[in-house]
Amino acid sequence: SCTPLYEMTDGPLAKAILQPRLAFSHKGKFGHALLLAGSPGKMGAAVLAAKACLRSGAGLLTTLVPELERMLFPTAIPESMSILYDNRKPEEILSDTSIYKTIGIGPGLGQQPQSRDWLHHLLTHFRKPMVLDADALNLLASDVRLLEGIPPFSILTPHPKEFDRLNGTCSNDFERLEAALRMAIQHQVIVVLKGHRTFIAMPGGRAWFNTSGNASMAKGGSGDVLTGMLTGLLARGYAPEQAALLGVYLHGLAGEIASRKLGKESVLASDIIDSIGPAFLELE
Ligand code: APR
Ligand code: MG
Repeated sequence: SCTPLYEMTDGPLAKAILQPRLAFSHKGKFGHALLLAGSPGKMGAAVLAAKACLRSGAGLLTTLVPELERMLFPTAIPESMSILYDNRKPEEILSDTSIYKTIGIGPGLGQQPQSRDWLHHLLTHFRKPMVLDADALNLLASDVRLLEGIPPFSILTPHPKEFDRLNGTCSNDFERLEAALRMAIQHQVIVVLKGHRTFIAMPGGRAWFNTSGNASMAKGGSGDVLTGMLTGLLARGYAPEQAALLGVYLHGLAGEIASRKLGKESVLASDIIDSIGPAFLELE
């Protein structure tokens, strides 16, 4: 027989992964997520990721917020708690990470030394699968030792440029797909290589092309929404591979739903967030 090299996501696959929110449940059952995102001038990325995280079913969210932004963040998203951080060492501010089910790191984080220290702190103290995006990946690219320390089954969500920084430059898309699969197998992580048809490479060597989403999502902030969604699904209790497949598919579907209402030119990342709920409903 001829086994296809790559599989495709679709509605029935996403639906099969979906778990009902049980009637006898409380917020403690759906996991507490921690988010490290945003920096002065890029707090929007943190707000988008935080909202998307909670819209994806997480029970509780705490966001690490730069002291300077202590007023803006809770105003933009009162549902998230904050831990304010300043120049003190991360271990003085957050010594116990065991209450968190997962961590999302990277959107709008910046690559300043303070961000690097936090990334390093969380990677060395937290050993459960986490989501790494944007500047978390850029910081990893400049320090290979950090790359070796990623908890197994973490989800990395690079766009092609971020991927090339991590991996070394690829001369074409086909080479990049193969390199993404190699990275997934070698480091035992899930690589979500983002694009028009996002590629999801699993540690066991399976790989998927996502079939949802459209060009309305080619606008700053869409990626931050995906990071939040994946973090929320991990917190919610989905196993990492299921979270990656369901999250990427739902994210694309939410973009399609938003563009049916608003048209492809006008969809904002916030509109994708507002369509996460309708995307869940469309799957049910
Ligand atoms: N069709 C389908 N999906 C698309 C399309 C398209 N034409 N264009 C973009 N998307 C989806 C991608 O699959 C991905 O999930 O939108 C998301 C875009 O994510 P990113 O490329 O990370 O973009 P974003 O984060 O929103 O903005 C770019 O983030 O990573 C940093 O340095 C980067 O500052 C830059 C910013
Ligand atoms: Mg991005």
